[in-house]
Amino acid sequence: MNNITQQVLPPAYRAIAEETERQGFTMPSEVQTCTLLRALAASKPAGNFLELGTGSGLATSWILDGMDKHSSLISFDNDETLLNIARNHLGKDPRLTLELADGADWVTSNSTKSFDYIFADTWHGKYLLLDEVLAMLRPGGLYIVDDMLPQANWPEGHQEKAIALIERLEGRQDLWVVKQHWASGIIIGVKRDR
Ligand SMILES: C[S@@+](CC[C@H](N)C(=O)[O-])C[C@H]1O[C@@H](n2cnc3c(N)ncnc32)[C@H](O)[C@@H]1O
Repeated sequence: MNNITQQVLPPAYRAIAEETERQGFTMPSEVQTCTLLRALAASKPAGNFLELGTGSGLATSWILDGMDKHSSLISFDNDETLLNIARNHLGKDPRLTLELADGADWVTSNSTKSFDYIFADTWHGKYLLLDEVLAMLRPGGLYIVDDMLPQANWPEGHQEKAIALIERLEGRQDLWVVKQHWASGIIIGVKRDR
């Protein structure tokens, strides 16, 4: 076994990736992570999905590919140029709602929503408003974060933030947590029903 992915790509993925590269976006989700996101998405039939930080829709396309036709996904980002790439390639999918929103505003105004699957790929739900976002996770629901291993583009002080996040997640009584030293470093939390 090796880390080379030979799986079928989501239909829109290549076009999104090309446009993302032309745009010079420096924080795209990597393919290995995306294969995990897709496989886990398939474990939640008729699920409510949330992605915090759409970017250009790279991971979004994989999550949609794993979701069944009864599922729905909300994904938001505060960068309209990037979001428009996702809108152009994925916007026709009736299961998807793309929102232009600041993370703090979105989380505080949607606190009554609940989800079976949360991919937290921006500040909010990860380094900010973690408790509020985890409160939206249903029992049995999946909470997924990537980029937990040191990255070349991390600013000074970010490593300490990552370590603090890992400690917070591992300290929670309402989550079973798995740390994977793989891809960019993935943590999966499963909400306990207690
Ligand atoms: C790691 S990238 C997301 C990558 C994306 N999931 C993908 O598949 O390529 C983080 C995203 O968070 C967005 N972002 C940064 N600050 C934000 C904020 N305050 N509110 C909403 N989105 C924010 C950025 O525009 C960026 O697209």
